[in-house]
Amino acid sequence: MSMATASASLTAPLLHQPNHTRFSTSLRHARKLKFNLSRNSPLRQSCTFPPISPPATTKSRGFYISASASRAYVTGPPIVSEPDPRVDDSEHDTQKAEPPDLITRRLLWSLLVRHKLRIGLSVLALIGCTTCTLSMPIFSGRFFEVLIGARPEPLWKLLSVQGLLYSLEPIFTVIFVVNMNTTWEKVMATLRAQIFRRVLIQKADFFDRYKVGELSGLLTSDLGSLKNVVSCWDNMHTVYSISPTCPNSGRVDAFSIYKRSTVPVFKAHGLAQASMSDCVTETFSAIRTVRSFGGEKRQMSVFGSQVLAYQKSGIKLGTFKSINESLTRIAVYVSLLALYCLGGSKVKAGELSVGTVASFIGYTFTLTFAVQGLVNTFGDLRGTFAAVERINSVISGAEIDEALAYGLEKEIQKKEVNDENIKLFISNGAFEQNKKLNSRYMSALESASNVGRLAWSGDVCLEDVHFAYPLRPDVEILSGLNLTLKCGTVTALVGSSGAGKSTIVQLLARFYEPTSGRITVAGEDVRTFDKSEWARVVSIVNQEPVLFSVSVGENIAYGLPDDDVSKDDIIKAAKAANAHEFIVSLPQGYDTLVGERGGLLSGGQRQRIAIARALLKNAPILILDEATSALDAVSERLVQDALNHLMKGRTTLVIAHRLSTVQNAHQIALCSDGQIAELGTHFELLERKGQYAALVGTQRLAFE
Ligand SMILES: Nc1ncnc2c1ncn2[C@@H]1O[C@H](COP(=O)(O)OP(=O)(O)O)[C@@H](O)[C@H]1O
Ligand SMILES: [Mg+2]
Repeated sequence: MSMATASASLTAPLLHQPNHTRFSTSLRHARKLKFNLSRNSPLRQSCTFPPISPPATTKSRGFYISASASRAYVTGPPIVSEPDPRVDDSEHDTQKAEPPDLITRRLLWSLLVRHKLRIGLSVLALIGCTTCTLSMPIFSGRFFEVLIGARPEPLWKLLSVQGLLYSLEPIFTVIFVVNMNTTWEKVMATLRAQIFRRVLIQKADFFDRYKVGELSGLLTSDLGSLKNVVSCWDNMHTVYSISPTCPNSGRVDAFSIYKRSTVPVFKAHGLAQASMSDCVTETFSAIRTVRSFGGEKRQMSVFGSQVLAYQKSGIKLGTFKSINESLTRIAVYVSLLALYCLGGSKVKAGELSVGTVASFIGYTFTLTFAVQGLVNTFGDLRGTFAAVERINSVISGAEIDEALAYGLEKEIQKKEVNDENIKLFISNGAFEQNKKLNSRYMSALESASNVGRLAWSGDVCLEDVHFAYPLRPDVEILSGLNLTLKCGTVTALVGSSGAGKSTIVQLLARFYEPTSGRITVAGEDVRTFDKSEWARVVSIVNQEPVLFSVSVGENIAYGLPDDDVSKDDIIKAAKAANAHEFIVSLPQGYDTLVGERGGLLSGGQRQRIAIARALLKNAPILILDEATSALDAVSERLVQDALNHLMKGRTTLVIAHRLSTVQNAHQIALCSDGQIAELGTHFELLERKGQYAALVGTQRLAFE
């Protein structure tokens, strides 16, 4: 039966029935569904870039979500509830023409319109296909009439017409399916690109909030289910086009049955799938940690429980589907039986011809297939809407990092877009929206072009910086911190673990923005620069440098991701980073693949590649966050050597665990209680006999 169902859903004809009531019913239904979606996407976007916005507005930034918020089945830390800024922000709201949803009907429509030729062809094929399918029962009826001699028509003529119908129908079907499928795949590609891009420009706290597995699920399985729209459209029209021709067949209200029964089941199934893929991502991206703790059994148990949950929801879903399928079949059989009784008696009474009854029986079978296909795909469609809801609730409501979005857009526009791959990201409706959104920056950021010059010549100052992470707004990490990084000199930042040193790095890198206060370079607020320009002037080397799973050479070249870096430059950078020797001893030299996150290299090797990458980038501001902390003595010496090379002439901030490595800095700042508690050279601070002196003392003790 599944074969029949499948073929029915493939060949089921759609007819542009001139019956407007029917058509509008399905439209109305679609509208209702969409409306539900929008209502369920309560996350709205506040766009408050103002490059130099007053602290009050900055404070009211963030996610906001109404009490009735449905987050679909997104897992993750609870959303921080803030007083609804719409209340005090209402006048801003009118000018903030922010789309509530990422995937809207309008966007889908605009994407589809671009393939109007294909769609037109599909519609023609569909009309042909439907005409064939609807004519078949008529000719079957005539066939019986010819057989019993009630119709004076040569049999061969009838058979040849039928043969023609049977051969045309599959041809039309192929044309329809191929074209619709191609259209849909193209639309999906654009949507995927759009969502990927949108995720890429989210503020940093978005990534604190959602897990990687969840985000990858959005782009793969969730979006994949959107495809069901096509087949459902197909079947829905079939039923509506056939049903008026069979008044007795008792149309089944599949919609209402499905709406009530399957949505929660689909959501549960989607949730189960999401957590399953999440577990896979988490386990394998942390495989070394799993190994080192012997956590395989635990991971297996976690994954097992998720697989079982998925299995359970899958079975439940299957049961729901089959029950609904049987119900529709029963309905069709009942109407078939009624047709036999009624039609039989009418034929007996001479009121109806045998051919007409045979045609009706044929229609009823066609309807059976169509309804069945509809029931199945409509079920899938519920899953699709759950997915759209999920995508919208995750992405549309989240605040994009406008300074980043602007930079990216400008970047894309500036370059000649020859790259087909990038074209995918810009040629769609949402891009226009972004352009509108960013227009406010354009004027504000005009002075930004000289950021490189300023960074090479001016001091970097943190002025009265207050900061709390968006996910924990009550915990102030920095409270009125002041610090000047003098141009071309080395500033060391020390302090106990958790004092907020890495937080300062994140602010300097502009992953997050200060809650209040500002960061300036040569007196200019950094918020007047767009983020991609800012990214070019700051190099960060972390404790655990992350390499991409490409070759060593490509990893170094990532320092200048948009340029064609010559092999010579890569080698020069590698030599300065003390990395050249070990690289040439690798099996394929610079072409050796480094494995996921650089797993095929040692920590010291990874670090030196990261330094080579930073050298190649040649940024005026350099931040070393515990860059040598994870290394053994030999690697540390090699890396330190490379770092000394890298620091030359740059405004450098060094965070180091071992105080011995920061002694030579031009100034040392001690971070404590969210502020700089002590500032001076090593000897000045020792003389002060304050916290720094105490820290040095404890480390000496530890080494003795
Ligand atoms: N993404 C984050 N979200 C919320 N809190 C964070 C985040 N990152 C760090 N914190 C918190 O901020 C505080 C300072 O952390 P950090 O700046 O990393 O300290 P350290 O001085 O050791 O580098 C810690 O209490 C930490 O728990
Ligand atoms: Mg840290």
